Amino acid sequence: MRFLIDQVKAPTEKFKVNSVNNFEMIINNLFVSYSDEGDQGSPVIIFIHGFPFNKSMWKMQVESLKDTYRLITYDIRGHGNSDAGTEGFSIDLFVNDLISLMDALQIRKAILCGLSMGGYIALTAAEKYSSRFDALILTDTQCIADTPEAKEKRIKAIESIRKNGVEKYAAESIKNLFASGSFISRVKEVEDIREMIVNTSVQSLCSTLLALSARKETCHKLTEIKVPVLIMVGNEDIITPPAAARFMHEKIKGSLLKIIDNAGHLSNLENPEEFNLQLKRFAASVV
Ligand code: MLT
Repeated sequence: MRFLIDQVKAPTEKFKVNSVNNFEMIINNLFVSYSDEGDQGSPVIIFIHGFPFNKSMWKMQVESLKDTYRLITYDIRGHGNSDAGTEGFSIDLFVNDLISLMDALQIRKAILCGLSMGGYIALTAAEKYSSRFDALILTDTQCIADTPEAKEKRIKAIESIRKNGVEKYAAESIKNLFASGSFISRVKEVEDIREMIVNTSVQSLCSTLLALSARKETCHKLTEIKVPVLIMVGNEDIITPPAAARFMHEKIKGSLLKIIDNAGHLSNLENPEEFNLQLKRFAASVV
């Protein structure tokens, strides 16, 4: 069931859509699906998922932190239960949606936690709207733009999705997303991620791949970040490897770097105990 919500009246007129604090509201003319957990008066952490996943990838973080923080997760347009709209995607468009969501929820400032593509969005948001964020948590992400080879791979991925379908794309992607041990120890998480991928439309997959390949680098702005930053990365992440995290750590003054053991690109799902511990310690030191 869908409800139309006048964005300026949120949050007092939010409507509960189901039993797990999931809501939908119109943001920039699209239905955006989000969850809002924890006490309204608590410090806010906003989680931004990676590509091509959805907000449910944060459920272990929400469970673990909801007694202390107000936690917002949302589906980026074209992902999960959010509408895709008709515009071509870009990181700037995703950032605009994020700020509009914060405005609609009357969240003036928050801690921002982004994984991979979520990190690209977080870094760009922090660059453009620095006064809106108390701190950043950058996880399994990087500041560089796509190399020509990476762009070429995205084009090939688009061609393959159109030709062979999403199931094949999901099967191929999964191989690179997890640490080898996670295929044995985290069978449910691997299957959950596969489902998130196959439930993303061809149109959204292709539009997001183009957005990712066109993204600008954010490395040259890292020295200007003035808020506390925690960087986390799985020790077996081959998509945004520990070297990329170290590079950002060296550039961001005072940042913390935590390498998460037994984890690939999805460190929050593969080693949630360590990930949540670091997240809690950091958030407690910030607000
Ligand atoms: C992600 O997890 O968001 C993607 O791996 C990001 C990317 O492909 O650059």
